[in-house]
Amino acid sequence: MNKPKVYIAKFIPQEVEDYIAQYCDYEKCEDEDITREQLIEKLKDKDGLLASGTRIDEELLEKAQKLKVVSNMSVGYNNFNLEAMKKRNIIGTNVAGSLDDTVADLIFGLMLACARRITELDRYVKAGKWKKDDDLDLYGANVHHSTLGIIGMGRIGEAVAKRASLGFDMKVLYYNRSRKPEVEKKLGVKYCSMEEVLKASDFIVIMTPLTEETHHLIDEAEFNIMKPNAIFINASRGKTVNEKALIEALQSKKIKAAGLDVFDVEPVQADNPLLKMDNVVTLPHIGSANDDTRFAMAKLAAENLVKALNGENAPNIVPELKQE
Ligand code: DGY
Repeated sequence: MNKPKVYIAKFIPQEVEDYIAQYCDYEKCEDEDITREQLIEKLKDKDGLLASGTRIDEELLEKAQKLKVVSNMSVGYNNFNLEAMKKRNIIGTNVAGSLDDTVADLIFGLMLACARRITELDRYVKAGKWKKDDDLDLYGANVHHSTLGIIGMGRIGEAVAKRASLGFDMKVLYYNRSRKPEVEKKLGVKYCSMEEVLKASDFIVIMTPLTEETHHLIDEAEFNIMKPNAIFINASRGKTVNEKALIEALQSKKIKAAGLDVFDVEPVQADNPLLKMDNVVTLPHIGSANDDTRFAMAKLAAENLVKALNGENAPNIVPELKQE
């Protein structure tokens, strides 16, 4: 029997490529920046695609008539046009569960860096500005025993809550579409309305998927009710926040600082005012980026692809595309 044909649009480790080769005939990209037109051309005779962030919409599906499976090597799947995929019965998978602790570590890094001004003071020391021993102007804020508000209590939210509650003795409030009684019991976190979370928290972490409902979930009105000492952290997707409102909130000191792994436009544009602010810590969308985690993500994405193409139950079909 002929093997299914797949295109690998993301660099993956050799071991994972060898696994795919056992079950599929494959072509892989030499350059991850392959244009959309080139990708569409490649997909004309392919049954499966392994990619990350590639827009899967009607136009692409129209031209990739054989495509049956899209395996996303990321947890977020805001690149999927779910309606278009449903119409064509395309199986779409993600790598949920492979990166929770890694992203939670990074979120904690951002919280600590903002509160204790680590990146700002690193620049200060290296610039030779350290002239006296105890400079009040360099003081930061405590993370331990402060209040953390988590918007979006999925797996990553829970991993952040665990660190906060068990490691840093923080009071943890959360808002989520659905209540998580088992997490409340396990970690002592408290469910609140979004307004209560925003009003009471010293740190606000947004970790929701990007959907129509969460687009600009945090906007001017939300920044207006945060505490002036609030530190805002986003490692989800840039568009869950109205970036203009964030910039205005920082400029007018409605909030104290921000730690950002994601932006409205990525890579972030050089003239983005956030890049000029000492109280903003910026990262290049790197939440899951280490060798072990990227290996686990690639392996899971490959398993999803192979299993779905073989008609087996793929472990990670995204909820909206699951057939009952
Ligand atoms: C994810 O897995 O969604 C990460 O943000 C990488 O895109």
